[in-house]
Amino acid sequence: MTEPTTVHGDVARQGGASARGMRSDYCGDLRTADEGRQVQVCGWVARRREHGEHLAFIDLRDHTGLIQCVVDGAHELRSEFVVRVTGTVRRRPDGTANSELPTGEVEVGDCTVEVLSGSDPVPFPIDERVEVDETLRLRHRYLDLRAARLQGNLRIRASVNAALRAAMTDQGFVEIETPLLIASTPEGARDFVVPSRLSPGEFYALPQSPQLFKQLCMVGSVDRYYQIARCLRDEDLRADRQFEFSQLDLEASFVTQADILEMVGVAIGAAVSAVRNVEPGPIPHMTWREAMDRFGSDKPDVRFGLELVDVTAVFSSTEFNAFRAPSVKAICVPGGADTTRSRLDDLTDRAKRWGAKGLVWMRVEEDGINSPVSKFLSAEELTGLREATGASTGDLLLLVADEWRATCHVLGLLRLELGRPGVNEGGLQFLWVIDFPLFEAIGDDGSPVPAHHPFTMPHADDLHLLDSTEPTDLLAMRSQAYDLVLNGWELGSGSVRIHDPAVQRRIFGLLGISSDEAQKRFGFLLDAFRFGAPPHAGFAFGIDRLVALLAGEENIREVIAFPKTQSGGDPLTGAPGALDAGQLDELGLRVLPPAT
Ligand code: AMO
Ligand code: AMP
Repeated sequence: MTEPTTVHGDVARQGGASARGMRSDYCGDLRTADEGRQVQVCGWVARRREHGEHLAFIDLRDHTGLIQCVVDGAHELRSEFVVRVTGTVRRRPDGTANSELPTGEVEVGDCTVEVLSGSDPVPFPIDERVEVDETLRLRHRYLDLRAARLQGNLRIRASVNAALRAAMTDQGFVEIETPLLIASTPEGARDFVVPSRLSPGEFYALPQSPQLFKQLCMVGSVDRYYQIARCLRDEDLRADRQFEFSQLDLEASFVTQADILEMVGVAIGAAVSAVRNVEPGPIPHMTWREAMDRFGSDKPDVRFGLELVDVTAVFSSTEFNAFRAPSVKAICVPGGADTTRSRLDDLTDRAKRWGAKGLVWMRVEEDGINSPVSKFLSAEELTGLREATGASTGDLLLLVADEWRATCHVLGLLRLELGRPGVNEGGLQFLWVIDFPLFEAIGDDGSPVPAHHPFTMPHADDLHLLDSTEPTDLLAMRSQAYDLVLNGWELGSGSVRIHDPAVQRRIFGLLGISSDEAQKRFGFLLDAFRFGAPPHAGFAFGIDRLVALLAGEENIREVIAFPKTQSGGDPLTGAPGALDAGQLDELGLRVLPPAT
């Protein structure tokens, strides 16, 4: 659908046209049309080149870009000095234009320079082409932020937020801030907790999401709530996970699942068109089961093929033990027959690490199938396999046999390993995954584990299964939960909520949450529901993830002004840090020596 945006350019100047303060122009704006104008530009000295004894070329940088200034006697100017340059725009002499810079045909000459602020030598050059240690970058994040890439990313993020706010307001949603110091929310991660000084020994939890408050807003007749909400979750960090992140969080009353999908679609459309010049088309839907079956994932990356093919039937009466399993699936890799043995061994190792009992590979060659296991398979099975997968000479087949979920899971990961395109390839492929199961598994204690949070409404057609005691019935129950997926990333989740206290009690019972415990953890919500709860539904998507993919970044850190490192630290402020004895006393806390 779309190609990556040039992140700098227009977004950098949005809204900046009127009051320009100490300058007449931004560095990145000057063009040949400005020839002859006297201008004042402010910024940082990005680079300085001597030209003869007195003359120097200074590249001056602000958030919009670079402009070359020709300065007399500029000896005191060093990298990252902050200056104001007053001079005249002129065309660069023939043959000296720089086609890589938007301002490359002009320069500012006859310059007077005022030094507004000096700079110590910087610990790393402000140049994204130079590889710099992550911790050093984050320790001096303010220097890192000077680079065009991060400037662009921050502004993309701001445009997305502005577009989201406008789209939500247009749809009648009201922005409401919910508290940060709360009791625990049931999103499934660990809470960050804050000790209370006034009630020593007691703690607030920071919200993993505004889930319960937005539902209370519905009971409070708000009708349509939204918030660009800070969420905090103590979980292991990855490319798409930070402790602190932002959601576009929303909830609406008297609506169905279809209404929510449409409202979210409008918001997403606004965000995409704010950053790229195109509207994404309507977002296709796929059931969870189909997503698992075809892509082996509940967040399928549909930018590429390599789909999973069910071949269970082909091996229904096989003599080969490994394939006597509830589910046998294959991936056909076109032209993959020349994959080296060591790569195949590597794929087998990975499959085992992901939980497979093994991985069968087959090279489809001129004279038949070449595989360590072909001797265990009948001619009919080999023919059946080729037919089912459509494999032809030169292709590679990879097969896994196991329980359905395990087979799908392993082949889904192999599929990504073999074919996942780079972040800027294949456009933006949004997808709704609907009809999630209500329960993910049966836990060790015999209770089902909810796939979303425990306030998710079962699918209307499956409600009767709630009374069954058969685990298979419970696992077959669908819920009115839906996820939004973009290029293989889970962008957001939501559901129609349970508004009937009786159904809610039933679900808590199934989940092994006793009525005492339910009352203790969510009593305020259950109480509220006794006073007239409207039917309601909602959704939340990760803004960090959306912005990262729109900006063409692989890691959400690149679209967060002040992110944490992989190990959760902030090298800039030194957080997390110890408290002094006085603070600990006041909070009634003692720190134990680290567990050994
Ligand atoms: P969920 O827990 O699925 O749903 O979160 C919604 C979206 O938030 C983003 N997200 C994260 N982004 C960055 N770092 C993290 N650690 C992180 N964790 C989650 C993801 C995810 O899809 N209250 C429900 C929504 C609802 O039912 O309305 C909720 O929070 O993009
Ligand atoms: P085995 O019968 O364990 O010697 O395995 C024979 C071949 O089948 C080996 O290449 C295994 O990696 C593979 N294999 C074993 N179990 C499975 C399975 N469940 N799914 C796919 N391949 C398997």
